[in-house]
Amino acid sequence: MQTALGPVFNTVSPQAGAIANLFGIVLVICGVIFAIVTSAIAYNLLRFRAKADAPEPRQIFGNRRLEILWTATPAAILALLLFLTSRVMGRVDPPLDAKADIIVTGHQWWWEARYVASGVHAANEIHIPAGKRWLVDLEAADVIHDLWSPQLGRKMDAVPGRTNRVWLEADIPGTYIGFCDEFCGAQHAWMQFRVIAQPPAEFEAWAQQQTQPAIATAATAAGRKAFQDLLCVNCHAVGGIGTNATAGPDLTHVAGRETLGGGVLANSPANLALWLKNPQAIKPACLMPNFNLTDGQARDLAAFLEATP
Ligand code: CUA
Repeated sequence: MQTALGPVFNTVSPQAGAIANLFGIVLVICGVIFAIVTSAIAYNLLRFRAKADAPEPRQIFGNRRLEILWTATPAAILALLLFLTSRVMGRVDPPLDAKADIIVTGHQWWWEARYVASGVHAANEIHIPAGKRWLVDLEAADVIHDLWSPQLGRKMDAVPGRTNRVWLEADIPGTYIGFCDEFCGAQHAWMQFRVIAQPPAEFEAWAQQQTQPAIATAATAAGRKAFQDLLCVNCHAVGGIGTNATAGPDLTHVAGRETLGGGVLANSPANLALWLKNPQAIKPACLMPNFNLTDGQARDLAAFLEATP
């Protein structure tokens, strides 16, 4: 449904479309009721305004027909909304017994995406094949977060200690911005993500590339060594380095991502070096401390990390 009313109506998945349609119907029904009530109030205020010398008007104590009408009409409207809502729920609710395609975990303040079949670990950018409905298990590592990409619909909480499920689907290839939609601390605003829907062949190529280890060349050797010596390995995994740490995002293919730090910076070697120099200056209170790196160390690390798309 293409409209000028913003992403909530400019939907690209059947789930989001069903929700947007329901919202539109409710909005129209409520708009009509609002118009009837306000115009009746305005009419009666003007038409029956008391005049200075007018006598007491006739008093009315009950009207059975009117009372039946104003009880039955709202009941009928609510029954209709219940029917429409349960139909939409049937369309957007995922099954509870099927196996998930992706496990998405909310962290303060980034998103982790683990692909069940391929074992790929992505961060803040969830690639999916366009036109295919994928089942997402949603979890939280620390506090409550909420996954919402307005054009793809269904907002869903990520709650520590439980798994919520949601369909993720985009019928048109493209990049769809998403947000954390539950206040989760200082950097809640910089917990953005992107859903990147690709033609199936392109998606397969991406998934294949994501399983490859980090490129090792003479140009990346100093950064590769610094990554181990400076203990980056305690929190971050990089394929080929021999670490499976999951406290921070997997950085093997960070070069292929559009942004850094949950959307706070555009991804470039210069910005990554800036981030490494002092993450607290860019995203205060984020879990990555300031390691007081030298310019050279930050540059070497950035060169290593930005070498593998
Ligand atoms: Cu995570 Cu707000």
